Amino acid sequence: MKVVEEEQLITVMDGPWSTTDLIREIVESGTQEDPFYVMDLGEVVARYHRWKELMPRVEPFYAVKCNDDKLLVSTLAALGTGFDCASKAEIELVTSIGVAPDRIIFANPAKMASHIRFASAVGVDVMTFDSETELMKIKQYMPHAQLVIRIRCDAASAQCPLGIKFGCDPVTEAPRLLKLAAVFGLDVIGVSFHVGSGASETDVYARAIALSRALFLVGHNVGHKAMRILDIGGGFPGGTHTSIQEVSAVINSALEEHFPDRSVRVIAEPGRYFAAAAYTLAAMVHAKREVTSKECADETHTMYFINDGVYGSFNCVLYDHQHVVAEPLNDNGSVPAPCSVWGPTCDGLDCVLPATRLPSLAIGDWLIFRDMGAYTLPVASPFNGFPVPTVRPVVDARLACILKELRPLSASQFAAGRVVESPALGTSRPASRAASPCRAVFVECALK
Ligand SMILES: Cc1ncc(COP(=O)(O)O)c(C=O)c1O
Repeated sequence: MKVVEEEQLITVMDGPWSTTDLIREIVESGTQEDPFYVMDLGEVVARYHRWKELMPRVEPFYAVKCNDDKLLVSTLAALGTGFDCASKAEIELVTSIGVAPDRIIFANPAKMASHIRFASAVGVDVMTFDSETELMKIKQYMPHAQLVIRIRCDAASAQCPLGIKFGCDPVTEAPRLLKLAAVFGLDVIGVSFHVGSGASETDVYARAIALSRALFLVGHNVGHKAMRILDIGGGFPGGTHTSIQEVSAVINSALEEHFPDRSVRVIAEPGRYFAAAAYTLAAMVHAKREVTSKECADETHTMYFINDGVYGSFNCVLYDHQHVVAEPLNDNGSVPAPCSVWGPTCDGLDCVLPATRLPSLAIGDWLIFRDMGAYTLPVASPFNGFPVPTVRPVVDARLACILKELRPLSASQFAAGRVVESPALGTSRPASRAASPCRAVFVECALK
């Protein structure tokens, strides 16, 4: 992971504005040649608000692995989320900004001994396990840990299935592990699962919650008298045009059926839900090549080379099975034609879009890619000397005035307000969009 250490100044936008207009303004300055992201803090706040509205009982613990951009993590900390950390470095990042250790779950069922010792030293007590050897390790290095058993319950399909690697079988393995933990004198306080990242089935949460309920009873019967945490993992959609409405209805009703007792604390570990839509990538065409089809000499195809590729942000195409969509920043009116989009490195594998259609692009034209905040930046490398894109954070002025008061954010991170005069900007954001729900969210945050 790459923790961005330098201070990221947040541009405050006063007046109607849009991400697309801001990107246009940046590239029209003429000095921008490298790819960059615009990160909208308002999107993160809006998503937090939506989550609380739809699943008031479920506390989000943001999965840091999804995008460890310090500003994103700080914004979520300011809103009051907890954090799912998978390693010592992730715990260090989250605690370094002042998050209390009881707002962290060490949710990696296969931890290194030194990472367990570190968690113990800084007071991160809650951690997951799914095997006998992990129990033995925890008994040796942190016998006072508060354990959460991770069970397997897979969605019928998911962008990135996880059950193949983590989660014990809830019927054949979990009861024995719960008993073993009791024999070891370890304290199991809950059950967790992850249905798969980018899950396309919602009913799986109901199945997993029912299985968890059964294991709460088993746990209680074998001596874990304080079973009190249900962790429903991640898997929630994050794209601009997705919604958690349907999945939240399934979860709320399963919780009502199986965990009506409010003394059970319900947490989740959303990653892409918070990260994806807040980040829009801009990349420039720096080379192109016309090729003719082998089969038909009349058919031409344009290969566009852009300054970010699968070794950078578009690693998500390989590792996260992401389908990315390229949009020309400016509409030049030409008819979309067959083309492919390639990254800047010398590797033939570095292909962003093998077959798509785009209007004719010239060298120096820019493409934008929306919903690029999940599983992109933390994995990107500067292979071949091509830099990982920088992030330009931005926020609406009405939100900025509230956010800058919330620790760990501070007024010094916000650049002096930019007044956007022109109401003629085509895709500008409606004036009410960011501000209206925020007061309620922030009042709630202030109470935490
Ligand atoms: C343990 C754990 N929790 C949470 C997440 C985040 O999942 P998502 O981005 O699907 O919400 C992951 C992703 O791999 C994970 O492994």
